[in-house]
Amino acid sequence: MVNPVEIAPSILGGDHADLAASVEKIKNAGLTWVHVDVMDGHFVPNLSFGPGVVKALKKRFPDMFYDVHLMLDNPHLYIGAFAEAGADLISIHVEPDYPIAATLDNIHSAGKKLGVVFNPKTPIGDVIPYLPRVDMVLAMSVQPGFGGQTFDKDVLEKISRLNELRTELGLSYRIEIDGGITAQNVGECIGRGCDTIVAGTEFFKNGPALIEAAKAAP
Ligand code: DX5
Ligand code: ZN
Repeated sequence: MVNPVEIAPSILGGDHADLAASVEKIKNAGLTWVHVDVMDGHFVPNLSFGPGVVKALKKRFPDMFYDVHLMLDNPHLYIGAFAEAGADLISIHVEPDYPIAATLDNIHSAGKKLGVVFNPKTPIGDVIPYLPRVDMVLAMSVQPGFGGQTFDKDVLEKISRLNELRTELGLSYRIEIDGGITAQNVGECIGRGCDTIVAGTEFFKNGPALIEAAKAAP
């Protein structure tokens, strides 16, 4: 395994009336990553959190690692705001039409880790050009927009390929998976090469079983 496995619970799956309680729960489970799903109502048909939420959580829980997943048509317009708010890693999708390479440059210049994300129907070829420069590749295992959807197994082939490419190219990017992760399927994801596991619904419903299953993975 190139990188230690991290579970990154998505606060989208917790109580939105008490986001601090969600982060407290993540912390009490012995985890440090917090996955923040940011949605614009256009790239995805839902709205969620903005930079103010990241800023408030970072202030309250400064030692947590904020893994910010931007599901926006215009992510390049918000890098400064999320960087200032305290994001530690910012991931941007490859599907919308905006200057992707320049946006990665901006994330880097802001001193943050950078990730690229692709949807279940997006070919892996669309992320390959960015592999040498990213800290993480996020493969979506559901169509983004909502928590609680069913895991799309077709992503597993892509994970295997990202894992092979990581070795072939001599790189160490993290491979993150997001959507429909459960205690039942997390082992196979890790076995295929994932080291960063997003879980919303399952973490908040069944956290200890999920963590145990991840620890027991090959
Ligand atoms: C989907 C989000 C996911 C989602 C995961 O748009 O990117 O992070 O919250 O939720 P679960 O684990 O419930 O599928
Ligand atoms: Zn996400």
